[in-house]
Amino acid sequence: MSQFFQTAEDLFKRKVLRQDRDRWNYQYSQGKWTTLGDINELARFSVIAGYAQYLKPNGKILEIGAGEGYLQQRFDKTKYSLYYSTDVSDVAIERGKKNEDEKTKYLVADMNLYEPDTTFDCIIINEAIYYAKSVEAVLDRFNLYLVEGGIFIVSINGDERNANWHRMMDQCTYPKLDKTTVSATRNTFTITVLGKK
Ligand SMILES: C[S@@+](CC[C@H](N)C(=O)[O-])C[C@H]1O[C@@H](n2cnc3c(N)ncnc32)[C@H](O)[C@@H]1O
Repeated sequence: MSQFFQTAEDLFKRKVLRQDRDRWNYQYSQGKWTTLGDINELARFSVIAGYAQYLKPNGKILEIGAGEGYLQQRFDKTKYSLYYSTDVSDVAIERGKKNEDEKTKYLVADMNLYEPDTTFDCIIINEAIYYAKSVEAVLDRFNLYLVEGGIFIVSINGDERNANWHRMMDQCTYPKLDKTTVSATRNTFTITVLGKK
């Protein structure tokens, strides 16, 4: 391969294929997302954990776009049998790893490519669906990894820029089991529980 093509390929891999990961890693290393651990986010995490722990006691949980793992850290560990916190950012996942134990794992994974090695009772997409192609596309991808009777829990915040995501959620063809809107100091979040298709 010529020097030109090697350089072009290298540039493509670094700047195009890894663009999202690099951008998130940069933001995490700059401390941009530490506010997700603030009390203002607690109501959202509490509703999600409440649904998961009540509907799927001792369940196997997959979280997609988990960041540093604040949601997992707010779960009662005695109430799940497996928890995978996954995120495209290796900086975020590295920070979460101190919370690992025999049933809690932090994994670097791109939601648009990830193929889990097991199935789950509950799959959570918490303020991260915006990085999928569409609501239906990401649910279709992970529906395969949901056991019969399993649930999705999806949080979409009320920022007006997310109107399209709310519309996609309203129109999506998965059975909707419940929906809660949380209005906290900094933001409003709509949390939807959906069944397997
Ligand atoms: C707004 S943050 C939310 C983090 C966490 N869920 C929370 O609520 O604290 C969005 C997260 O999505 C992750 N993300 C972005 N694109 C992704 C992708 N393609 N696959 C997996 N995670 C992704 C980012 O790295 C970031 O951690």
